Amino acid sequence: MNKVLIIGAGGVGSVVAHKCAMVPEVFGEITLASRTLSKCDAIAAEVLQRTGRTIGTAKVDADNAEETAALIRKTGATLLINVALPYQDLNLMDACLLAGCDYMDTANYEPLDVAKFEYSWQWAYQERFQNAGLSALLGSGFDPGVTNVFTAWALKHHFDEIHTLDIIDVNGGNHGKAFATNFNPEINIREVTAECRHFENGGFVETAPMSLHQAFTCPDGVGTYEIYRMYHEELESLVKHIPTLQRAQFWMSFSPNYLKHLEVLQNVGMTRIDPVMYQGVEIVPLQFLKAVLPNPSDLGETTKGRTCIGNVITGVKNGAPKAIYIYNICDHEACFAEVGSQAISYTTGVPAMIGAKQLLTGDWRKSGVWNIEQHDPDAFMADLNEHGLPWKVIELTQEQAAGFHVA
Ligand SMILES: NC(=O)c1ccc[n+]([C@@H]2O[C@H](COP(=O)([O-])OP(=O)(O)OC[C@H]3O[C@@H](n4cnc5c(N)ncnc54)[C@H](OP(=O)(O)O)[C@@H]3O)[C@@H](O)[C@H]2O)c1
Repeated sequence: MNKVLIIGAGGVGSVVAHKCAMVPEVFGEITLASRTLSKCDAIAAEVLQRTGRTIGTAKVDADNAEETAALIRKTGATLLINVALPYQDLNLMDACLLAGCDYMDTANYEPLDVAKFEYSWQWAYQERFQNAGLSALLGSGFDPGVTNVFTAWALKHHFDEIHTLDIIDVNGGNHGKAFATNFNPEINIREVTAECRHFENGGFVETAPMSLHQAFTCPDGVGTYEIYRMYHEELESLVKHIPTLQRAQFWMSFSPNYLKHLEVLQNVGMTRIDPVMYQGVEIVPLQFLKAVLPNPSDLGETTKGRTCIGNVITGVKNGAPKAIYIYNICDHEACFAEVGSQAISYTTGVPAMIGAKQLLTGDWRKSGVWNIEQHDPDAFMADLNEHGLPWKVIELTQEQAAGFHVA
């Protein structure tokens, strides 16, 4: 019987706990641990009510590797699913090495005091995981995660070589709040205010945040949204593992309302991540802002609309140019009905469960540190269809691909 330890009882942690509980033949014993025990207990009560399964809960400081290792040993877990925050990644990888447990996450490491994320820190664990005979799976959410697997699957089944990749992440949902982020506000705002980087002609090119944008019409009536080019972590691993890529870009939709609020918050200094003194106490403005913004895991009840996330990919097959669009559409209200969460947490938590399933039952359990696109994509793609994130693929002309005309 497989035993897993989920770390992080936020929006994503709740979905992972629910979805693992729904696959009892793979996830025999589940423990959910986080900084605040009451949040774990509340999720466990929901899981019991929705699935009839009892999961264990525990309090843990994921920044303390020894403490986490002790919890791994106590639960007997052979896989740790990290859905806490990117700051915890290295400490949790250390804990896994200490206790002899496999590791997986959905976001790459980011130091608390610098708004910068890259894989180098986690790739540096390669030898230690290999020597310990342990497996680490990096980036098993939606983006990174499903978007990487879409690319690997496209390369396996549709292309001899991939030349361009455009990942387009549209959230066509409306939560009805004046301003809210759809996942952890601190991580979200650090990400969207960063310099834009895209890959072109063998290197990354830096441009001002949000400086390039265009309209994008989603298929299946999801609607037309303004998408903005920004940096996203999967670009780093994908250009490394698919070296024929000549250009790789990431785009995300933002509403004018979101951008208006963000601009004001930036202008008044509320997105700063350096500490400031307030009434004799050091506070970090962005962390304070997180405390007053709506909690993303509470947005499920009010969010309506759909997400549409997919890849426009071009390249060659049998010497001829080829282009495809591969995508998933996910309905916020359907997610809420199933697991009590909005679609952003859902589209991250479901692939986390599926990645964990491949590690526990498939052929993904190899010693070392792996990005998700390095594994065979087929079983993961089949599981997406089975576990709530069905996908479609359509062929595009070169002109359609160039203009992102997919609808
Ligand atoms: N790949 C993707 O597609 C994708 C998309 C969205 C999000 N993500 C990633 O998913 C992760 C979770 O996001 P979320 O929206 O669920 O965030 P969240 O709601 O803020 O949840 C984070 C959880 O981690 C816990 N935590 C933080 N520091 C901890 C520590 N030192 N020890 C123990 N627990 C700790 C928090 O505890 P408290 O409740 O006590 O604060 C909270 O329960 C993030 O890493 C995010 O970047 C990935």
